[in-house]
Amino acid sequence: MITQNGPRNGPLIRDRNSFANPASPDSIVPTVIRPLSLVALLTLLLSSCRPVVLEPAPAWAYPTNPPPPPGPAAEVPQGPFQIPSSKLSFTRKELSNLFAAPDWRPEDHPPMPEIVSHGRQPEVRACGYCHLPTGNGRPENARLAGLPVEYFVAQVKAFRDGTRKSSVDGRAPVINMTKTAVAMQDAEILAAAQYYATLRPQSFIRIVETAQVPKAEIAGWLYKFSPNGAQEPLGERILEGPEDFVQFELRDPNTKYIAYVPPGSVALGKRLAQTWGDSQELECSSCHGPGYKGKDEVPGIAGRSPTSIMRQLYDFKSGARRGGKSSEMDKVVKYMKNSDMLALSAYLASLTP
Ligand code: HEC
Ligand code: HEC
Repeated sequence: MITQNGPRNGPLIRDRNSFANPASPDSIVPTVIRPLSLVALLTLLLSSCRPVVLEPAPAWAYPTNPPPPPGPAAEVPQGPFQIPSSKLSFTRKELSNLFAAPDWRPEDHPPMPEIVSHGRQPEVRACGYCHLPTGNGRPENARLAGLPVEYFVAQVKAFRDGTRKSSVDGRAPVINMTKTAVAMQDAEILAAAQYYATLRPQSFIRIVETAQVPKAEIAGWLYKFSPNGAQEPLGERILEGPEDFVQFELRDPNTKYIAYVPPGSVALGKRLAQTWGDSQELECSSCHGPGYKGKDEVPGIAGRSPTSIMRQLYDFKSGARRGGKSSEMDKVVKYMKNSDMLALSAYLASLTP
């Protein structure tokens, strides 16, 4: 703090007597305290009184599929399947192959590099399978479209060297992402980063403030809403899932999502985003750019899946997500409560990317 306030081009080591009263050169103030201004001292004292609390991981943001019921798996249709916006068709087997990204609408994006469309056997799964050929991602993973190349590369390397983890273990999407990153070569990471950097980020998420939500079960690493009209209280959660679960399972890139959030979340999140920090110095756009659309090497956070934003904020705070420039976010989340994270996630997800 002291060095930040000091002259930029001044001497590195300050004259020890520069703060002493010239009239009493033998002042009894200990030399260690002398260079600290009263303000700096007060700030230090105040911040050491304020507790840094890590609440339990919000389970709703890390939905984990229940184990399949015992006995033989139920018969499921094998296709081929079609969707209204495409002339192509895919079988269930093709839709479950992590080494060939189903590409319903090739006309929507430039040609994919091999690593994005097919990955590399046996461990590098096709990025486009989970993050989609358009890079818009799905709530259980992350949107990659438009991410700065340097940031993208640093994140894959953080997964690779084990510095970026999840606060909640045992979720298949993250396990597969990690296995993929561990097997990747630098040139492959760069090729994927350059492809996704050229794509325009889009949002397919609708934020709905409500106290009552359709009953939901966990499936596909997110929420599947019951179609039969049964309701339950939302409480302090965000429930995010596809409007049409069948379309989601077919990996249609135009699948729409609903995220139910508690009443008032969006307005609260907006206020927090604009004023974060003791003197608002950590307001989100100062680093994430106007409209939170990203700036230089800092990623855009507008219009992303609210549960994926929530996981990132909590993972920074818990220390599960390190690597890259995570130290910049450490100071942002230091005093952030889970309820602040929820509101920020709801607000940011409601914006246009
Ligand atoms: C099995 C699904 C899956 C596959 C395949 C996959 N990823 Fe991921 N990816 C994920 C998940 C899950 C996350 C992290 C979500 C979280 O932290 O909540 C992620 C996160 C990322 C991120 C961080 C984005 C950010 O802004 O935080 C990058 C970059 C990334 N993946 C790149 C790749 C690349 C490159 C490939 C292909 C070589 C790939 N992924 C393949 C599931 C996958
Ligand atoms: C001092 C600069 C700074 C401020 C202020 C800041 N951020 Fe960040 N943020 C970063 C950087 C840098 C990263 C990339 C971290 C990394 O490399 O892991 C980041 C990453 C993130 C991510 C993860 C994005 C992804 O792609 O996974 C989220 C979410 C986020 N910030 C939310 C916020 C919110 C919400 C605020 C305001 C309350 C905020 N940030 C304020 C610098 C900042």
